[in-house]
Amino acid sequence: MEYAAKSGSPEKQRVACVIVGVFEHRRLSEAAETLDKASGGQLAGILRRGDMDGKLKQTLLLHSLPNTLCDRVLLVGCGKEREFDDARYRQAVRAAFQALRQSGARDATTYLASLPVRGRDLAWKVRETVVASEELSYRFQPPKDEEGPDTRLRSLTVGVDSRRDLDDAEATLRSAQAIAAGTLTARHLGNLPPNVCTPAYLAEQAEALAAADSAISVKILETADMEALGMGALLSVARGSRQPPKLIVLEYGAGMGREPPIALVGKGVTFDSGGISLKPGAAMDEMKFDMCGAASVLGTFKAVSQMQLPIHLVGIIPASENLPDGNASKPGDIVTSMAGKTIEILNTDAEGRLLLCDALTYAKRYEPRVIIDIATLTGACVVALGSQASGLFSNDATLARALLAAGEATGDRAWQMPLWPEYQKQLDSNFADMANIGGREAGSVTAACFLWRFVDDHQRWAHLDIAGTAWKSGKEKGATGRPVPLLVEYLIQQVA
Ligand code: BES
Ligand code: MN
Ligand code: ZN
Repeated sequence: MEYAAKSGSPEKQRVACVIVGVFEHRRLSEAAETLDKASGGQLAGILRRGDMDGKLKQTLLLHSLPNTLCDRVLLVGCGKEREFDDARYRQAVRAAFQALRQSGARDATTYLASLPVRGRDLAWKVRETVVASEELSYRFQPPKDEEGPDTRLRSLTVGVDSRRDLDDAEATLRSAQAIAAGTLTARHLGNLPPNVCTPAYLAEQAEALAAADSAISVKILETADMEALGMGALLSVARGSRQPPKLIVLEYGAGMGREPPIALVGKGVTFDSGGISLKPGAAMDEMKFDMCGAASVLGTFKAVSQMQLPIHLVGIIPASENLPDGNASKPGDIVTSMAGKTIEILNTDAEGRLLLCDALTYAKRYEPRVIIDIATLTGACVVALGSQASGLFSNDATLARALLAAGEATGDRAWQMPLWPEYQKQLDSNFADMANIGGREAGSVTAACFLWRFVDDHQRWAHLDIAGTAWKSGKEKGATGRPVPLLVEYLIQQVA
C-alpha cells in the first residue's frame, strides 16, 4: 500500500474515489461543501432526498458526480459535529475503508483528516488513518480464488488543507506506516499456529530483523547458556517440552549516543497448556497467543527500525512451550532463579512469571534507564479489565503516566493497577523464598508483585499485562498487535 499527502481541492482529484465527511443532520464538511458547489448543488440534493443523514458510520457511494475528476465520491457519516472525538473519528475512518473495500476502487483520496477532532492535530489524524487502513487490509491467509478479484486499495492519498501542512503530513505518513507495520508483525506472529511459531521460530524472526538492519544486533542464548547463567526458573518451564527454549536478546541503536537503553522484556510462551497443572480443554487453542508479549517486542523493533528512531533499545524474549511430560515441573518443585531466590512452583500454569523473572535479572546487565515487560500474564487481568485496557503496574509514577498517555494517544489504552507491598505476603511460602502463585485474590496484582521482587529498588520498571488485549476471542478470533502502538508512541515521546 502506498501513501501520499496532497493539498489539492477535492473536485480536482483524479482518483477512483474521494472520501468526504457528512455530519448529522446532512451538515456538509468543508470538503463535501466544495464538492457540492462544484457539482452545482448535486450533493446536497441527494442528501435532501433522504439517502443519508450523516449518522456515525453511515456511508453512501456516489458515482460520476458532475464537474469532478474522480470516479466516485464516498460520503461518510460522522455523527454530531460537536461530539466528533477520537473514538468517533476512528469509527468513521474504519467505516469509510470498509465501504471502500466493497467498491472496486483501487486508489482514493481521503479528506477525513481535515475534519476537526477535539484536541487532536493533523499528525494524529493522519496516523490513525494509516493505522486503520493497514489494520483492515491485513488477512492471515491470501484471499481464495472463489472470493473474486482482490479489490483491496493500492494507494491512499491524504488531502490536507494547505501546502504548509504537507511536510508534517508526509513525515507522519512514514511513522504511521512504521507503527502499522510493527503492529501487523506482532499480529501475524500471534496468529501463527503453535506448531509453526515455536521458540526457535521466534529466534529466527529476531535474526531476520537483525539481518535487515545494521542498527540491530541479536544474540540467542541456548539451554546450555541459560544453565551456565543459573536461570533455573526459566528452564523449569521448558522441561516438559521437546522444543528447546531460547532467550532472544535484541539490541537496536547501540551506537546512538552513550545513553543507557530502554529494555523491553516480552513473554514468549509459544503454547501454554498449563503443564502438569493442565488447563481445561475449552479454547485451549488460544494459548498459542501466549507469546504476544514477545511478538510486541519484535513488532516494536520492526517499527523502530523502519523509522530509524534515534534511541537505544534492548529487547529480551524468554521463549518456551509449557507442556506436561514425565520430565515436566510438578507442583511442589522448588527451583532457583538466576537472582538466587528460590521459588516453590505451586501451579505449573503460572509459568510466565518464571520465565520473566530470569529475563528481568538478565536485563540488569544493560543497566537500562527503563524496563518494560509485556506479558499475557493472568486470566485475572481479563476479569478485571476485559479487552479494553491492558493492565499497567509500575514502581515509577512518571513512567506510568507516560505509558498511560501513549496508550490514550493511540487508542491502545492501559489502566493502572495497584502495586503495593501489602500484596506481597500472598506469595509467602513455607518451603522457599516465595511461591509462584498468590491465591484467588487480586491475581494480576500478585503476579506483578512476583516480578517486582526481581527488579532493583532504583530501577524504573513497568509491567503490562496484555492477557485481555493481545487477542480477540469468538467470531473475530485473532491477535490484535497490541500493545505495539502504545510502546512505539512511548518511544517516540522519549526521543521528542
Ligand atoms: N497465559 C496464562 C494467562 C492467561 C489465561 C491469559 C487466560 C489469557 C487468558 C498464564 O500463564 C496463566 O495460566 N495464568 C494463570 C495463573 C494462575 C495459575 C495463578 C491464570 O491466570 O489462570
Ligand atoms: Mn499459564
Ligand atoms: Zn501463560
